[in-house]
Amino acid sequence: MRGLSPESRHNRFMAEIRELSPEMLARFTRINYPHDLALIVTCDNGGREQEIAVARYVALSVPRQCEFALAVADGWQGRGVGYRLMQTLIGFAREAGFERMDGFVLAANHKMLELMQSLGFVIRPSDEGPQVRLATRSLRVESGA
Ligand SMILES: CC(C)(COP(=O)(O)OP(=O)(O)OC[C@H]1O[C@@H](n2cnc3c(N)ncnc32)[C@H](O)[C@@H]1OP(=O)(O)O)[C@@H](O)C(=O)NCCC(=O)NCCS
Repeated sequence: MRGLSPESRHNRFMAEIRELSPEMLARFTRINYPHDLALIVTCDNGGREQEIAVARYVALSVPRQCEFALAVADGWQGRGVGYRLMQTLIGFAREAGFERMDGFVLAANHKMLELMQSLGFVIRPSDEGPQVRLATRSLRVESGA
């Protein structure tokens, strides 16, 4: 959270959030695998482990469908971390038996929309309003993914 600029936080949470509430912190850290999964990338920063990216999925109420979220610290963006992390998340979700992955992305977040398209997601309008797109991807192997 602290490695994200205000713009990145806005893109990730679609709201002006400066700190995570205790409820959000609990939700993000109590992982009920394989129902939910969070993958975290860390690096060694002078002997201190520093978190630089996180990708997660949570199961939706619709069977075999999950929702993703992704954030890469500003200093590490544009180096392929998000792409690689999403690829890994997709692999785990597929292994856990999910057949579809969805996620909401702000329409103005072109970088994320392009990234998701390069990962095989289809971008559609969403019922969250004109500022939000739905990125959706089949995880079935026979779909050519
Ligand atoms: C959007 C975000 C997740 C992207 O992560 P990133 O690590 O910067 O992205 P990457 O470096 O992996 O990908 C960037 C580009 O490389 C491409 N790319 C990277 N690795 C690749 C590979 N191995 N093969 C093909 N394409 C690749 C991506 O498609 C993308 O294309 P571009 O060059 O046209 O921009 C990051 O900017 C971020 O965290 N932003 C703030 C939070 C946010 O917006 N989260 C999404 C909420 S829905």
